[in-house]
Amino acid sequence: MSTPDHATITIGDQSLDCPLVLGSENEVGIDISQLRAQTGAITLDPGLGNTGACKSAITYIDGEHGILRYRGIPIEEFENRANFIEVAWLLIFGHLPNGQEQAKFSELLKSNAHLHESMKHQFEGFPIDAPPMAVMSAMINSLACFHPQFLEPDDISEEAFTELAARLLSKVRTIAAYAYRHSRGRPFTYPDPKLRYCANFLHMMFSQPYDQYLIDPEIEAALNLVLILHADHEQNCSTSTVRVVGSSKANLFASCAAGVSALWGPLHGGANVAVLDMLREIHEGGMNAEHAIARAKDKSDPFRLFGFGHRVYKNYDPRAKILKKHCDRVLALCKANDPLLDIARALEETALTDSYFIDRKLFPNVDFYSGIIFRALGIPENMFTVMFSIGRMPGWIAHWKEQHDEKGRITRPRQIYTGPMKTGYTPREKRS
Ligand code: CMC
Repeated sequence: MSTPDHATITIGDQSLDCPLVLGSENEVGIDISQLRAQTGAITLDPGLGNTGACKSAITYIDGEHGILRYRGIPIEEFENRANFIEVAWLLIFGHLPNGQEQAKFSELLKSNAHLHESMKHQFEGFPIDAPPMAVMSAMINSLACFHPQFLEPDDISEEAFTELAARLLSKVRTIAAYAYRHSRGRPFTYPDPKLRYCANFLHMMFSQPYDQYLIDPEIEAALNLVLILHADHEQNCSTSTVRVVGSSKANLFASCAAGVSALWGPLHGGANVAVLDMLREIHEGGMNAEHAIARAKDKSDPFRLFGFGHRVYKNYDPRAKILKKHCDRVLALCKANDPLLDIARALEETALTDSYFIDRKLFPNVDFYSGIIFRALGIPENMFTVMFSIGRMPGWIAHWKEQHDEKGRITRPRQIYTGPMKTGYTPREKRS
């Protein structure tokens, strides 16, 4: 039998031949771009679980087999070998950087790490307990005010784009550290150009004017790994948001600020905070794993097993597998003995043998163990999702660029209207 090259959609006595689009791993898409023009009908796919919004050459996921690749390279290959910046380059520019490219990009990152002094004053306007994700999104948007040369996407040359990408990657780390320092009422620590990306972040977070934070290379390596594992994940909620905003030709700062906002929710990046809240609730409430799992299965109970389940993975999330492996090492390094890790392990073990989780193919996702690692590294909980956003920045930049280079159409979905049919306006005095 020959491989089909089209699908046929039949609506009443109308039928439409739709070409099939094959991905490089033979994923099949049905091109329905002529559907409405030819038949008047649209597709309805709440949550877009069956909708390919674009073609993309950046990241490949096979959720059934727990596979994740950046530009074709399996995620496991980066473990203990790559640094976050070369992975960022890979995602954004499509190939691993050669020595010259890496050196030039590192130089750009170093020379663009500082925030404009006027931006520093903006932090003072935020209350001390402002959620760092709100600060992060607002300050990334603010970058647009200080870099007007990057506001017209069509006028940015390839070289200028490299500088723009470096500026954003470098400054988000400074913004995140300053947001933390502000929340603690501490003075800002300027970036140190002698330090590498992750080390510089730890320095800005934790060094005191009278006490330089000593950077343990293993802690730096742990942070580097966590950021790499978060660097891209194809068309997730925040990346789709960046693409949607970017499709109107909004600048990169505005698009990525929107990405931060989308990431914030507990069903997406905010799950790393929700996992810790859940583990603490179990610990402090003296609940055992069986009781917690029973509650997670009970639809009348709002308790959910955060850090479990995924729209795409119907197998173990490969990022969670790597993080789980590194938890013990990081805790030992930081001389931390975290009872929440034991609870996480017991929960995982119980869930993975429970028919509710087996039938629904619910496995731990990246957020299940990342919070335990962040906690061990001394990152406060309200900064966990900010850490995710620093990690995801290369992916957002790569998708913004890909979409812009393809000169795609503005994203503008349709809807099935379910409101009232045409009705008249009743003047105020005649309303009962
Ligand atoms: N605990 C208990 N039940 C769950 C869970 C969970 N964590 N996740 C899914 N289910 C159930 C859900 O109730 C539904 O059951 P039923 O078929 O009986 O109605 C079924 O599994 C399918 O779930 P869904 O909510 O329809 O799946 P989705 O693809 O719309 O949502 C998800 C995916 C990640 C939002 C969801 O699994 C969830 O809420 N997980 C907890 C939050 C979380 O960990 N989010 C981080 C995701 S990974 C990082 C990232 O990319 O953001």
